[in-house]
Amino acid sequence: MVNITSTNILDIVALALIALHFGVPLIYYIYLKRKWLNRPWNIGVDLNHTPRMTIIIPTYNEADFIEKKMDNIYKQDYPRDKLEIVVVDSASTDGTPEKVEEWHRKNPDIRLKLIREPVRRGKLYAVLNAINKVVNDTDIIVLTDADAFFQPDSLKHLAKYFKDESVGAVTASIKYMKDRNMIEDIYREFYNQVRIAESKKHSTPVHNGPLQAFKADIIRRVGLPDFPGADDSAFASYIAFAGYRAIQVDDVWVYEPYRGSTLRRKIRRAQHLTLSFLYTKKHAKKKGVYRRTIFEHIWYIEYYLHIVNPWLLLTATLLLVTSLIQGSLLAMIPLLLGATVLVTLRPAKTWILQQIYLIIAMIKNIWTRSETWSH
Ligand code: GDD
Ligand code: MN
Repeated sequence: MVNITSTNILDIVALALIALHFGVPLIYYIYLKRKWLNRPWNIGVDLNHTPRMTIIIPTYNEADFIEKKMDNIYKQDYPRDKLEIVVVDSASTDGTPEKVEEWHRKNPDIRLKLIREPVRRGKLYAVLNAINKVVNDTDIIVLTDADAFFQPDSLKHLAKYFKDESVGAVTASIKYMKDRNMIEDIYREFYNQVRIAESKKHSTPVHNGPLQAFKADIIRRVGLPDFPGADDSAFASYIAFAGYRAIQVDDVWVYEPYRGSTLRRKIRRAQHLTLSFLYTKKHAKKKGVYRRTIFEHIWYIEYYLHIVNPWLLLTATLLLVTSLIQGSLLAMIPLLLGATVLVTLRPAKTWILQQIYLIIAMIKNIWTRSETWSH
């Protein structure tokens, strides 16, 4: 008797956790979609606004991409005298910096700086180093990856949002270059909608490293986070905590190829994200730049979704397995259902995998943070 009762309690707790795990993000998504996604931007945009832009490309062994990358910027529909490219290379061994110099000899009519770091200390170090060197002589700092490609009018459209006083950071929506992976697209579309809707409300805490931009005068005033593992999202969230809007927009796209081990990349990205949620707010308070806005609401729910919610699913699964071992037949239903959904429903699979990446990332952070963050 006692056994049956206790397994029943396990089952009930597990089912409640599962309901919470899927219910909260679902309700949040429906709320954003109904209330915010289709609203007009509360931002004064101006397509004739052409501030000076400094485009920083951090590189480590990017010989395959770097010339195409610079051609892509060169072809931007933007006044060339307002553009400057800064490549910050961390001791590449494949001739990346030489390719940059050679490219500039062929295309001398655009300003270009090459910063060569003698040793590799990671992307964060390189980017902060480059920003320090240029932030006093420009209006907008653009950060981008060597393997990310813009549309011809990307910079023009990015610039128009910075006309508005309230905007501090803008990031593009991401598309993948070879659209063979359907799951990747479903995943992207869902998140693009969430990020854009949050941006219409105030700001989104998740920004995309392949293309993000900041007002230089704000960086001069408040700086940027430099804790180990700080990256795209930490930069943007920090600016939002300083009281400015940090938005993802729906009319600027950046294209990224698939490459490298996807699993490693996804876990690395999840590590940067979880670190941002754990440390950016504290950092902003420590630096004395924190201001309370409605971004706080968005932050709380996204904090919950990234830091707390994944563990509910794991806990529920463990409870159900325990209960099954103890002979509960009820536990078999959600476990079988979960397994079926995992195999057949691809968006559900993507969701569950993302939860696993976040959990692995949080565990990995415990020891990675004490080492130098290489990337
Ligand atoms: N200078 C410098 N030094 N650049 C580096 C280093 C380094 O030690 N390590 C990587 N980079 C450069 C790469 O050459 C590339 O231009 C950019 O940083 C991003 O690296 P990728 O190898 O393309 O990584 P990704 O595709 O997984 O990047 C995504 O996730 C990262 C977070 O893990 C993007 O969103 C990145 O912007 C983001 O930082
Ligand atoms: Mn990349």
